[in-house]
Amino acid sequence: MGNQGPKQHGYRNMALKRTGDGKKTNQKAYIKTFGCQMNEYDSERIAYHLTKAGYTLTGRLEGSDLIVLNTCAVREKAKNRLYGHIGNLKKHKKENPHLIIAVGGCTAQNLRADIQKDFPFVDIVFGTFNVSQIAQLVAQKQKGRSNICGVKEQGFDYQLGQSVRPQPFKAFVPVITGCNNFCSYCIVPFVRGREKSLPPEAIAAHIKDLAHQGVKEVTLLGQNVNSYGKDLDQAIDFSSLLEKMDPLGIPWIRFMTSHPKDFSPKLVKVVAGCDQAVNHIHLPLQSGSNAVLEKMNRKYTQEHYLGMVQDMKANMKNCSITTDIMVGFPGEEEKDFKQTMHVVKKARFKRAFTFIYSPRERTAAAKIKDVVPLASKKKWFGELVAVQNRISYEENKKMEGKTFQALVEGYSPKDKGLLQARLYDHTVVLCRAPKQLIGKMVYLEIKQAKAFYLIGNYQGKC
Ligand code: SAH
Ligand code: SF4
Ligand code: F3S
Repeated sequence: MGNQGPKQHGYRNMALKRTGDGKKTNQKAYIKTFGCQMNEYDSERIAYHLTKAGYTLTGRLEGSDLIVLNTCAVREKAKNRLYGHIGNLKKHKKENPHLIIAVGGCTAQNLRADIQKDFPFVDIVFGTFNVSQIAQLVAQKQKGRSNICGVKEQGFDYQLGQSVRPQPFKAFVPVITGCNNFCSYCIVPFVRGREKSLPPEAIAAHIKDLAHQGVKEVTLLGQNVNSYGKDLDQAIDFSSLLEKMDPLGIPWIRFMTSHPKDFSPKLVKVVAGCDQAVNHIHLPLQSGSNAVLEKMNRKYTQEHYLGMVQDMKANMKNCSITTDIMVGFPGEEEKDFKQTMHVVKKARFKRAFTFIYSPRERTAAAKIKDVVPLASKKKWFGELVAVQNRISYEENKKMEGKTFQALVEGYSPKDKGLLQARLYDHTVVLCRAPKQLIGKMVYLEIKQAKAFYLIGNYQGKC
């Protein structure tokens, strides 16, 4: 799943609500999110439970009464950054002894005892299976009770709809949580448990409700959406789920992440045939070398992957493919890296999230001693990024002069005089248009391509 830097919920102006027992509170909660969309969704759930308990959400750390860090464990860097962040909170605690600090998410699930030992001023540690209990934990802490929550795997502990969306016109809808794949480098199965699909009836009811609320874009979430339904009693797979969701009134339905081993020609046909499912597929490659893919336990080959790319490009109009790629997996050699570059040049991804392999304790790959020298990792990473950036720019360039539907999301963070919109494949387009269009679908003509975004002319509402 795309995983780009920490985010925070900025609900500064949310009205005060009453607590369950009827008392008004003026307590402020600050939530910071690290990691992927599944964690962003969990933060939306944290926001729901805290506002229900009377908290107001704030985008400012200073002056908050409760700080929640929702953590990621996918790479060592994420953990190191988290440790830096927690360390910095100590001074806030000194200034405000009533401040409650809660650490949740994947690193909390993985290293709960270490966090408590290394940072005794952290009040609450809660795992990925205990998000719904956050308000109770805070209440217990306020009464002076102990501060660690059980982190036992328990599948879903929530209902769809119990979340507060930062942008009312966009919604995440998890359809399957956990992962059974155990790619040899990956910590996710250890911190998110086994696959668990939500019943299709619950998903459909929620999506109908979102359509009723005027939501423009829904992202169906799962570590591997293509595993959807395998654990359910009824015969349903992800393509049939998507077909059922298509007519429910959401203008854009997207999904991520697809695993190449389970990605089927049937899904390509369904996406191509659906009106609302967008023609964008995020299909992580990881490596183009068959030897490395085997050691990664990915269960597909370069040839299979390229076959799927061909199928998508032949059958989906304006098909846009994005990916994740890793360099420096144990034992990777120059010849393996060349195979990755071969796929990158052939597949011509619209965008790629690129990573240097990071050993994760408990995973199978962490036990392999054949470590790639840092110099090679850096060299390969630089080459990969340079070639992909060139391809992204060339692919963006092909869009110049064409008109696309776009969803206006807000102001551009770089230039407040411009609005930022996104195309069906999440490419950013900056444009000059009235601010009343935020949250609306519009037509934009692409005037100019940059490597990472586009500049467009507003043509009118959809
Ligand atoms: N479920 C998704 C991805 C989850 S993690 C999938 O199957 O693709 C998001 C991305 O982080 C992965 O695609 C991978 O490229 C990267 N990643 C995962 N573990 C990593 C590790 N140990 N070191 C470096 N990158 C890693
Ligand atoms: Fe990790 Fe592989 Fe599962 Fe993705 S499919 S979450 S990379 S184990
Ligand atoms: Fe996501 Fe990071 Fe957890 S990528 S599932 S938040 S380890």
